Amino acid sequence: MYDVTVIGSGPGGYVAAIRCAQLGMKTALIEKYNTLGGTCLNVGCIPSKALLDSSEHFHKAKHEFATHGIEIGEPKINFPQMMKRKGEVVQQTCDGIEYLMKKNKIDVYKGFGSFVDKNTIKIEKEDGTEEIKTDKTIIATGSKPIMLPFIEFDKKRVITSTEALSLDEVPEHLVIIGGGVIGLELGSVYGRLGAQVTVVEFMDGIIPTMDVAMGKELQRVLKKEGFKFHLKTKVTSVKTEGEEVVIKAEDKKGKEIEIKASHCLVSIGRRPYTDKLGLENAGVKLDDRGRVEVDGHLQTNVEGIYAIGDVVKGAMLAHKAEEEGVFVAESIAGQKPHINYKLIPGVVYTWPEVASVGYTEQELKEEGRKFKSGAFPFKASGRARASMDTDGLVKVLADAETDEILGMHIIGPRAADMIAEGVVAMEYRASAEDISRMSHAHPTYTESIKEACLAATEDRALHI
Ligand code: FAD
Ligand code: NAI
Repeated sequence: MYDVTVIGSGPGGYVAAIRCAQLGMKTALIEKYNTLGGTCLNVGCIPSKALLDSSEHFHKAKHEFATHGIEIGEPKINFPQMMKRKGEVVQQTCDGIEYLMKKNKIDVYKGFGSFVDKNTIKIEKEDGTEEIKTDKTIIATGSKPIMLPFIEFDKKRVITSTEALSLDEVPEHLVIIGGGVIGLELGSVYGRLGAQVTVVEFMDGIIPTMDVAMGKELQRVLKKEGFKFHLKTKVTSVKTEGEEVVIKAEDKKGKEIEIKASHCLVSIGRRPYTDKLGLENAGVKLDDRGRVEVDGHLQTNVEGIYAIGDVVKGAMLAHKAEEEGVFVAESIAGQKPHINYKLIPGVVYTWPEVASVGYTEQELKEEGRKFKSGAFPFKASGRARASMDTDGLVKVLADAETDEILGMHIIGPRAADMIAEGVVAMEYRASAEDISRMSHAHPTYTESIKEACLAATEDRALHI
């Protein structure tokens, strides 16, 4: 009998298992694939960042080295090698999770898990079926890409992110349906490697859930790099004709447009994955959007069964899943953990990177909250000029009366790492003036955060 069984080994599941084991619980982890780590490590965060880094090196070699005074001739792409390196990074990372499971004495079952009843889990393995007994269960089964019913999805030319991470050639023309995180990250990879990239987006801006200033600046930069955008455009059909994919869509004026491409990436969001999990056998309810319904303690309607990560409500992010894994383990152990969902940062790993935490300007306006805004452009930063990364800005939103920071939005070099300053500041409820009175090393990109805070405090930025 296990104290806890975790179904799914993504960042939510494996972290929950480690924390349960640390707290002295006898823990089992079930994963249907042969490698641990879930979407994030196998076909998500890690492989996409490996390819983003490789393609960024190529882009710099091609377009920036000469300006730095480095002459290497015309750089060439060895695409199989780029993919091989990506595969090695994934494998090392997944092996690292196997090591952590052993270190924490967690029993790993490779097979498909499903509920027989509240306390019995069936595992269908390659060599037969086994049942285990458990006191508590954590559902961490993640998500899968959403497909549109009229799209002929052949996994070769009409693809999701999973196939886009393992192509055997650079697409000539990649049409991306959905200008969100996946589309823009993978579009950046192939755009840098020479593909023509066209984005078709339903809304009137890209990365529409982030602060509006971020989407506008990112679109400007990507356009400069050759991306084409069709906004407020609805795709009506996607068909493969021989070597070509034909995409039909209706633009903002209702006019039909036709785009021919070599590949079409569908990245319009992901859906919670609970297929064949046998939730009905345990009596676990889903909500109206197919997510496992949970309360404030991440417990389902059945006592002792919890759910975390992409399969429940909230942002579909690896670090959100991890926080929830720790939260549930500690709750089961009788502790009183806390997650501040408003302070989970969101990042887009394009170049420049985009990173956000807290309220967006749109959200504050909708709530009718009075706020001040301060911005600082990277073109005024000495560090950014030294590295030729002058696109982008830091934008800080602060309460009009108390000066408390309510949101921080950065598009620029290393924004993904810099946003941590915003998270810490907001967790400790710092005011914009607090940050502007702290010493930031010179020359660093983070000085731009201090300058944006000065701008938000009393319009006192020093370098613009
Ligand atoms: P998952 O990682 O999806 O793991 C669920 C696991 O459960 C899977 O391994 C699955 O096989 C297993 N499983 C499902 N059902 C069963 C069953 N019945 N029995 C046994 N096993 C089962 N997030 C970030 O924060 N940063 C990023 O940079 C980032 N990049 C991404 C890039 C791409 C291309 C994609 C697709 C996603 C990216 N994400 C990123 C999102 C991130 O991958 C997810 O938010 C995260 O993986 C969710 O973790 P999870 O543990 O909830 O589920
Ligand atoms: P997304 O939600 O980020 O973007 C989907 C986009 O598609 C939106 O802009 C939406 O308006 C648009 N869209 C929806 N339906 C459409 C239609 N019919 N036609 C045209 N456009 C349409 O989803 P995405 O990019 O698929 O990513 C899925 C999840 O994976 C995200 O929620 C994200 O949290 C996670 N992820 C996170 C990453 C990161 O943290 N860096 C990287 C990649 C994925």
